[in-house]
Amino acid sequence: MTQRVRKAVLPVAGLGTRVLPGAKATPKNLLNVVDRPILSYIVEEARAAGIEHFVFVVGRGQGAIEDYFDANPEVEGALEAKGKAEILADVRRDIGPPGEMSFIRQMAPLGLGHAVWCARHVVGDEPFAVILSDMLMTADPPALAQAVAAHEEVGGNIVVVEPAPEGEAHKYGIVALATRTGRLNRMTGMVEKPAPGAEPSNLFISGRYILQPEIFETLQTQERGAGGEIQLTDAMSKLMKSQDFHALEYDGTTYDCGDKIGLLRANVAFALRRPELAESVRKAIQALL
Ligand code: UTP
Repeated sequence: MTQRVRKAVLPVAGLGTRVLPGAKATPKNLLNVVDRPILSYIVEEARAAGIEHFVFVVGRGQGAIEDYFDANPEVEGALEAKGKAEILADVRRDIGPPGEMSFIRQMAPLGLGHAVWCARHVVGDEPFAVILSDMLMTADPPALAQAVAAHEEVGGNIVVVEPAPEGEAHKYGIVALATRTGRLNRMTGMVEKPAPGAEPSNLFISGRYILQPEIFETLQTQERGAGGEIQLTDAMSKLMKSQDFHALEYDGTTYDCGDKIGLLRANVAFALRRPELAESVRKAIQALL
């Protein structure tokens, strides 16, 4: 029997260079997609996968994330007094039970691997999820729930992947598979930004992981890799020598909200999914073309 995945680590301490200056004073993950911050969708996805505790790894100036998931008596009181019940319910929708979230400072953005390592004391000795919260995913069941189901099936470590656009695999972290049959396959390796033409597959690591706690020991001594950063991919490659890793080709669509066009695409796509907005969005876009 595999141990249940109860905790998720959300590293959000990166600089968000690709969406500056928007991400200068507002954390990147609080930028809006339609009328909710990106993190609202991410936390909803994680709760649907059974996550009970969120470990945010934050940087300086990101206190707004804590505030977003906290009560706001002033705003809520004003909405109550004005009888704006619908907006009030919407404002309260993302707030979970007290103690559901922990916030840890990374202190310096030394890389994704370093950010995950910062969560070691709160996660402890159990399997946990890692969510890259600039990657919004629409899927049914939600992406993390698919990963949790795969973990229940095969145990070990699960890396969610998807096909890279034609000719672009060299821009991503790419996995190598033992054989490719169905959506869940044992991995034999992974490489960060392979040389064009030398990609072991077209499947890139897209932002949801289930990891075993031994990754923390590996990260403890992990040296800086690509871009001078402590890379999670390097630590996973090392851990693969002693533990099983499976790649799950998830069924759904990903929007990279850490990128200008990706964020715009997410806004349009999510608005089109909302029955009360779809028609006006279509008209607004057509009028611009
Ligand atoms: P990214 O490289 O996509 O995010 O890291 P970034 O660094 O914010 O973006 P750019 O490249 O400068 O535009 C993937 C995730 O890992 C987090 C980021 O916040 C993002 O959610 N991260 C990255 C950290 O928490 N700490 C780091 O040191 C690096």
